Amino acid sequence: MSPAKKAKTEEIGKNEKIRIGIVGTGGIAHEHMNKYVKFNDVEIVGACDIIPGKARDFLDSYGLKNVPAFESVGDLVKNVKMDGASVCTYNKTHAEAAIPVLEAGIHVLCEKPMSFTIQEAADMVKASKKAKKFLTIGFQPRWDFMRRKVDKIIDSGAIGKVYYVQSGGGRRRGIPGSTFVVEEKAGFGCLGDIGCYSIDECLHAVKYPKPLTVSAIATNYFGTNPKYWAGAADFKVDDFSVALVRMEGDVTFVFKQSWAMHADSLGDTLWLGTEGAIKILNGRDGDNKPSRVMYFTDVDGNNIDSYILPDMPFLPYDDIRPMDIWWGKMRSFVDAVKTNGPAPVPGEEILYNQAICDGIYRSSKLGKEVEIVIPKT
Ligand SMILES: NC(=O)c1ccc[n+]([C@@H]2O[C@H](COP(=O)([O-])OP(=O)(O)OC[C@H]3O[C@@H](n4cnc5c(N)ncnc54)[C@H](O)[C@@H]3O)[C@@H](O)[C@H]2O)c1
Repeated sequence: MSPAKKAKTEEIGKNEKIRIGIVGTGGIAHEHMNKYVKFNDVEIVGACDIIPGKARDFLDSYGLKNVPAFESVGDLVKNVKMDGASVCTYNKTHAEAAIPVLEAGIHVLCEKPMSFTIQEAADMVKASKKAKKFLTIGFQPRWDFMRRKVDKIIDSGAIGKVYYVQSGGGRRRGIPGSTFVVEEKAGFGCLGDIGCYSIDECLHAVKYPKPLTVSAIATNYFGTNPKYWAGAADFKVDDFSVALVRMEGDVTFVFKQSWAMHADSLGDTLWLGTEGAIKILNGRDGDNKPSRVMYFTDVDGNNIDSYILPDMPFLPYDDIRPMDIWWGKMRSFVDAVKTNGPAPVPGEEILYNQAICDGIYRSSKLGKEVEIVIPKT
């Protein structure tokens, strides 16, 4: 049977409900559920969490008393038929939670960052390829309409060949609590929490060139200071990092991210091209407004600066509010499960994001530039 025909026969009928499971029922799993329960073509069929009773309480809180709960992902996949699953465990258990689900023939939406190490990320992609089930990573800012505009403008060639990319932003006082700061669970600090978003924003726009080397520094002067963080004695993760990444195709990426600092910003996000540039002006942390985006170019020897306006918001689905990026993230997963792929944010692509996070972590520990080697998938 041809691959096209096979894919079609595996599509789920338009009127059929898709069966979704939840792996890890902590904080972010509620954001997934808040959308799933609004989709009338989704049925939640099971959940698991390693903390005894937590998955049961989670399902009960949505009135799903008859839906089975388990204490391991193995038991969930053994006992429940699913078409797709959300992996909402903490960073260091993404791989061990996602791989058994993929191996059981179930599509996966895994929360960001993809994993802790690059090897774990590669193992996840390998499992997905072997099972012919897709792995998508939960980067909801992909549905931000201004970001989609930036991607489109860069893709049009308007700024020519992009040779330099710089991330901006950063928080002044934004160390989160919970498992985000627990090294044994999160692995990274600020880098895995918000750094991976910055990397995705900067590099998806230029189609993720392959990273070659990373020279990075990561510090935690704020998290370890009781003046700024109550749990300072146990704080072992990064709260600031900066990196220079050399990439294939003569692209340089300068990355900066912070959970805390004595400044309002680490600068603007920038793509410099041979024919123009795009700059996202940094808003104040917590501003819930579309970002202001500038376009620079040269017309016949004249320097032109202009603003890209948020006129017609990008509407990924007709029946939604344009700014609800979470709706876009969850709906696109459900739709992709129905058609047996493709993945909205493919794990194969995010492998390069993870390689940079892994490179930043290794380079800062070793105190020198490191080479990026992507394991075979
Ligand atoms: N996309 C976003 O906006 C966003 C926001 C917050 C968190 N996150 C990501 O979501 C993930 C979870 O964050 P959180 O704040 O919900 O953490 P959390 O600690 O509240 O929840 C994680 C849950 O997973 C369970 N768990 C861990 N390993 C497991 C395993 N192998 N099998 C089953 N259950 C397991 C834990 O017991 C816990 O209940 C993190 O990777 C984080 O980066 C994403």
